[in-house]
Parts: sequence; structure tokens; C-alpha cells
Amino acid sequence: MDDSRETFEPRAFVTGFPIKHSRSPLIHGFWLKTLGLPGSYRAHEVTPADFPAFVSALKSGESGFVGGNVTIPHKELAFRLADDPDTLSEELGASNTLWIEDGRLKATNTDGRGFTANLDERHPGWDKPQSAVVLGAGGASRAVVQALRDRGFKEIHLVNRTVERARELADRFGPRVHAHPMAALSEVMRGAGLFVNTTSLGMEGENAPQIDFTPLLPDAVVTDIVYVPLKTPFLAQAEKQGFAVVDGLGMLLHQAAPGFEKWFGRRPDVDEKLRTLIIEDMDKH
Ligand code: ATR
Repeated sequence: MDDSRETFEPRAFVTGFPIKHSRSPLIHGFWLKTLGLPGSYRAHEVTPADFPAFVSALKSGESGFVGGNVTIPHKELAFRLADDPDTLSEELGASNTLWIEDGRLKATNTDGRGFTANLDERHPGWDKPQSAVVLGAGGASRAVVQALRDRGFKEIHLVNRTVERARELADRFGPRVHAHPMAALSEVMRGAGLFVNTTSLGMEGENAPQIDFTPLLPDAVVTDIVYVPLKTPFLAQAEKQGFAVVDGLGMLLHQAAPGFEKWFGRRPDVDEKLRTLIIEDMDKH
């Protein structure tokens, strides 16, 4: 028996610019430890100018990484530089998860799966209604709209301050998605069973307007992709008005799981222990 034989330790990364505030190393580190798997997952800051060289080294194997996550501002370029982006990434024009398979750089986008998995876990039955309202039309909104359409919502009302951006998204995602200006918010909420905030409104240090959620169906769910603070102003308002609310932290946790499985070979669980770990980290900063 050769004791000097080394076990393969897959190395994965999260890259962005800046990247030091990313909680992904904490999430993947927790999973590696609890599952007792060899490997590492580290934050790796790469400037936009250096990103193409970083991807080349990943493809050639020179960097030694098996794959990783990509965040702002590299998601669009990651999609364009990948050898085989999947159809989810293609429609979004952005990828957040990369891995090498059969010598090729594969790419997907797990944000939409993170969004739906969070709601599936915390409020089963959230997907029963026909109509949803999505506030915001930025990058995060795209993944949410795609996920809602793919889950079978018949009407997705996209409301945005700049209505042209909402129109662009509606064109991209087909006839079930309708664009509206902010002034139409109350009207489109009537009869909807889901409200999603995808804007930065209410993020720590930012103001959020008052929203009257009462036009929604009485058993509607209100969710926010902002998770700092955990209970955003929109969630607090909705809860006060008697609606079920789901915070956005689970989206971050669940979007991480498919990548982990690709790089380290095991499907990890999103559990309360992990959630508590991240909440404690948020309280520290
Ligand atoms: P992300 O990729 O995180 O979604 P983004 O592309 O900058 O970020 O999009 C931010 C979203 O928040 C947009 O929908 C933006 O509205 P505009 O398209 O009109 O810019 C929305 N947003 C940000 N600040 C806002 C504010 N003060 N009032 C209303 N909407 C706001």
C-alpha cells in the first residue's frame, strides 16, 4: 500500500470585484466540514481586466480549480467565455456557476433555482396562484422572472421605476410577462398571490417606500431577495398587514448547492445550522 498517495482535493473559488464581503466561502466551508469531504473553496478577487485571463487558466487547467462561482461584475462575461453555457444562462445572458467537465468549461445560472427552492422550503404551496408581481427589472429580476415563468405562473407583472427596462425583460421572457410603471403597482397586485422585491430598496442603509399590500390575495406570500437586513422594510410592512413573508437568505443558501455538488460530488443540505451560521456572521459585520 502506497501511503504517499495523495487524495484529490478539489479546489473551487468565488470570484468577483470586490469579493471580500462574499459569504459563499462560509457556506461551502460549512458543507465541506459537515460532509467530511476533502477540498477547498476560497474567495478570489479578479478585476474585470484580468477576468479573461482567469478564465483561460481555468480552462487550461493551469489554475488548478475544478470550477467556482462568479458574481458581480463578471456574470455576463463568464457566460460569454464559457464553452458550454446551458439554456438557463443563455436566456439570462449571465452565469454564476462554472465547472470543468470533459475538458470543457460548462456554465449555468443557479439564482432562479435558489429563489424557488427557498420558497419551496419555507412556504410550500407558494406556487399555487396564477399571478405574481415582481418589483424591479435588474439582473436579479431576470432570474426571478425566468423561475416564475418556468414554475408555471400564468401572469407575471413586472413593475419598475424605468418602465423601458421592464419592457425589455417582458420581451425577453414572453407573453406571460407584462411590464408596468410604478404607478400601476396597486392595480396589478389585485388578485396576485405572490409579491417579490428584486430592487435594492430597503437594503441596509437604504430607504423603502410604504407599500399597501392589501390588494393581494389574502393568502399571498411576500418575499424579498434582499437579506440584509433579514426582515426588510417591505417584509415588515407585509407582515403587519397580515401576509405570509419569506426572507431572502435561503435564496443565497440554495443557489450555492448545485455548484457544490458539481465540484465536490455530494448534494449538500440547506438546514437551520447553516442558516444560523450565516445570520451570526451578518450580526458581526
Ligand atoms: P441587480 O442586478 O442587483 O438587480 P440593478 O441591475 O442595478 O441591480 O437593478 C436594480 C433595480 O432596483 C432596478 O429595477 C432599479 O430600477 P431602475 O431600473 O429604474 O433603475 C431598482 N431601483 C434601485 N433604486 C431604486 C429606487 N430608489 N426606486 C425604485 N427602484 C429602484
